[in-house]
Amino acid sequence: MRFVPPFSKPLEKILNLNDFEVLARAHLPKALYGYVKGGADGGVTLRHNLEALERIKMIPRVLRDVSTGSQEVTLFGKRYASPFMIAPMGASAIVGYDADNAMARAAKAARIPFILSANAITSIEEIGKTYPGCWFAGYQKPDEPNIERMTKRVADAGFSAYFLTADVAVGSNRENNARNGYTMPFRPTARLALDMLSHPSWLYRTAWRTLRQRGIPAIRNIDPAASPSIFSREINSVTGYPGFNWKHAEMIRRHWKSAFIIKGILSPEDARLAREIGADGIVVSNHGGRQLDCAVSPIETLKRVHEHSGDMTVLVDSGFRRGTDVIKGLALGAASTLIGRPFLYAAALGGEPYVRHAIGLLQREIHTNLSLMGAVNCDTLREEACVHCWPSPTQCI
Ligand SMILES: Cc1cc2nc3c(=O)[nH]c(=O)nc-3n(C[C@H](O)[C@H](O)[C@H](O)COP(=O)(O)O)c2cc1C
Repeated sequence: MRFVPPFSKPLEKILNLNDFEVLARAHLPKALYGYVKGGADGGVTLRHNLEALERIKMIPRVLRDVSTGSQEVTLFGKRYASPFMIAPMGASAIVGYDADNAMARAAKAARIPFILSANAITSIEEIGKTYPGCWFAGYQKPDEPNIERMTKRVADAGFSAYFLTADVAVGSNRENNARNGYTMPFRPTARLALDMLSHPSWLYRTAWRTLRQRGIPAIRNIDPAASPSIFSREINSVTGYPGFNWKHAEMIRRHWKSAFIIKGILSPEDARLAREIGADGIVVSNHGGRQLDCAVSPIETLKRVHEHSGDMTVLVDSGFRRGTDVIKGLALGAASTLIGRPFLYAAALGGEPYVRHAIGLLQREIHTNLSLMGAVNCDTLREEACVHCWPSPTQCI
């Protein structure tokens, strides 16, 4: 069946990543829009992530011949087209039809990384075929046999990097979910039914097509021995492992032979511990403001964390929306950036073509702004320190 975008707005009228959110708000049931958009507690960190990025100003250099400019980067031994990637997002395929595959296909075509979440509805094996060599982000039971089984499963499916999501010792307080009726396991209530019925384009294009073509959604990637449906109470028993600690992270390191990255680091001391257990990289992240509210913004702590990271690859996320945001991240020490919500909104609105459009928009912004900064590539940005932050990076801590 050919997919017809549900909007009268042509793709060319979507001009930046924020535009997807505006359209998604109208398209998605309130419960699902709230699930994607929302932060923890009072949403202080969610707001602050954007403000912290906006506050940093750049000083461009001029007359530097940027005619041969390139935004390619090398990550864990592989060359990628751009310094950003699609962040792991659980339950994406409830928000948009077959959203994990749509994002993976678009990322593969654009030669940028895609990271599959352990909390995804789409299996590791399926995405491994869609995008061989893509990356996985695991939540993990804290026991060695399980870690061994899981790392083997991810390796057998052809993934080339394993991210450990480390900032989820327990689930956070998402009041917006409670207010909007979003629960996991999914509880069909009259309110939720009304919410869905009043968004017929989502109801048909995502809910109906998913049930007809892919069956009842299930969480397939957390526990190799279980695949609970989103309506099952078992879901409660496969998420959140408060006993998980550095010893278990080290076990993953031992069992996983390719790139191993710890996601959710904000403290320089934790960067040092990650290095000590042999991690290849870290993601400086506050989970897009979805875990600890009032956590520091990654862009504020990035430079200091980078200084304690030795030769680990440092990635960063949370609130990056513009090419200039990405450039700020690179200038303060990141090798690349993760971006979440806008790509999921794009997938929900129009599948792969919309995600490709989103990637293209950001690539154009990065190209333009790298050139305006006087940088021929992402490395010059760092090495020649041709970007200065105002206030200075040391004040951004
Ligand atoms: C709907 C949604 C689900 C997410 N699920 C996961 C997940 O399963 N694992 C994970 O490591 N991070 C998860 N994240 C966090 C993202 O990987 C990323 O850190 C964050 O979205 C970046 O912020 P941004 O959305 O402002 O770009 C999720 C984020 C969203 C929006």
